[in-house]
Amino acid sequence: MTLNKQNPLSLKSWKLLESNFKKNVQKKITDYFSEDPKRVESLSLQWDSFYVDYSKNLLDLETLNLLTKMARELGLNDAIEAYFNGVKINETEDRAVLHTALRQLNPKSIIVDGEDITPKIQAVKKQMYDFANKVISGNWKGHTGKAISHVVNIGIGGSDLGPAMVTEALEFYSNHLQITFVSNVEGDHLAEVIKKVDPETTLFLIVSKTFTTQETLSNANTLRKWFLNHAPESAISNHFVAVSSNLEKVTDFGIAKENVFPMNDWVGGRFSLWSSVGISICLAVGPKHFEDLLKGAGKMDQHFRTAVFIENIPVILALITVWYNNFWEVETEAIIPYSQYLRNLPAYLQQAIMESNGKGVDRNGKSVDYNTGNIIWGASGTNGQHAFFQLMHQGTKMIPADFIGFAQPLHKRNDHQDKLISNFFAQTQALMQGKNEETVMKEMSDQGKSPAQIEALLPFKIFEGNRPSNTLFIEQLTPSNLGSLIALYEHRIFVQGVIWNIFSYDQWGVELGKQLANKILKDFDKEEFDHHDASTQGLIQHYKKLRK
Ligand code: F6P
Repeated sequence: MTLNKQNPLSLKSWKLLESNFKKNVQKKITDYFSEDPKRVESLSLQWDSFYVDYSKNLLDLETLNLLTKMARELGLNDAIEAYFNGVKINETEDRAVLHTALRQLNPKSIIVDGEDITPKIQAVKKQMYDFANKVISGNWKGHTGKAISHVVNIGIGGSDLGPAMVTEALEFYSNHLQITFVSNVEGDHLAEVIKKVDPETTLFLIVSKTFTTQETLSNANTLRKWFLNHAPESAISNHFVAVSSNLEKVTDFGIAKENVFPMNDWVGGRFSLWSSVGISICLAVGPKHFEDLLKGAGKMDQHFRTAVFIENIPVILALITVWYNNFWEVETEAIIPYSQYLRNLPAYLQQAIMESNGKGVDRNGKSVDYNTGNIIWGASGTNGQHAFFQLMHQGTKMIPADFIGFAQPLHKRNDHQDKLISNFFAQTQALMQGKNEETVMKEMSDQGKSPAQIEALLPFKIFEGNRPSNTLFIEQLTPSNLGSLIALYEHRIFVQGVIWNIFSYDQWGVELGKQLANKILKDFDKEEFDHHDASTQGLIQHYKKLRK
């Protein structure tokens, strides 16, 4: 059984949602609060150490009931089971989507192509944990007998963003190992890394599911050459390990079989941090914390799989996105973590969400006649407040936002935390309430401004408000809670893909640029080439003149 292929616009519930939209379009979020004194109770969820408040949105329970009805009509229940049970829901690549199998709380058999993948998962985990323990304890030696002190992860996209975001997010839990990520094919990025590494004490992790990615292989080859200028060939096995599903290519590169952490095609790159791709995380924080990260994700998986839709956090948040995307025609969504540790969560989610749901063709192969994937952006709060919040508060666009914060700081409690949290609450309040004419006038008159000054400044100081947000308030930034948070977004992506009738787990859209770059690269060394459009032709010629 594969996923339903129904156009959501054909549903009765979709029509009812359109009527609901028309009926309430003039209503403000604050009107909903005045109408229903129990709104916060009915539009918030407490789960584990997560408190999710979605009451500051342009909808009510009637809207949410219609949205969940639509999800049921589109077969979301069956889709969730298909996803967890390893049905090949990634049809265009003929693959199952089983990152959830990597974090089962009570590991059960999951059969893919006639084989139970669960024992394999346990075996790779053991390989990862044994290796991490050896490196962390100093028992894994570099070629001159020194312990490893620096780990360089070479990978891009899903083989970089997830591990980089999580190691940064869990910095508080990290050990003595220094972890560096190199992703860009730009030689300057690599040159800066080379400046910092010592060939005697550095371990290089080449992370590439396909082991064909230009950026990763170029960086790995250059680092290998650099390394061999400082060490004999026999030292490669002490300093280079690989994570890949392409054993043949890894062996061709010269990495010993015992230094390869396998990966499977049922784990998509952007969902792979839970697999051997997370080896840098495991090294940075140790197996115990890595295991907690997996457990947190496993708990969220269970919640997602078992909670009724109206109490299901990923489902509700996904439906709220669909509501704004398809009925309010909103284009973008901001993610604002009030934690500097999570500063790269928006960048990580950009790949996870936009590579998954940035699709314009439905599961029947037809162009869609409605909006799909939204544009994701953001930065940490409070920094963002001093950058782009002006537009969020007073610009012409509505930008629904997720505000993510942690109640308990990791370091000793101090006055910074209260200041941070007051900002965290104040922003969603300001976005919703705004500031009306009367209040602005009173404020200015209290400040002693003249009537003429008040009149001149008034329009600029008014905030319309009525701008929606979700608040995800979590007890503390622990590995387990981080795992739950990431899994929440993964499932939200899945739900949105099901509703929009698109395939969320392929990424054909990144191929064309790769193909053309390969063609252009060849032309840099040719005298004659005239097969490009005039603009690109001109750019190539310009580059050839300036090329050193
Ligand atoms: O180009 C997109 C992509 O395929 C991503 O989906 C993936 O995460 C990234 O490239 C890296 O791929 P690989 O792990 O095979 O090097």
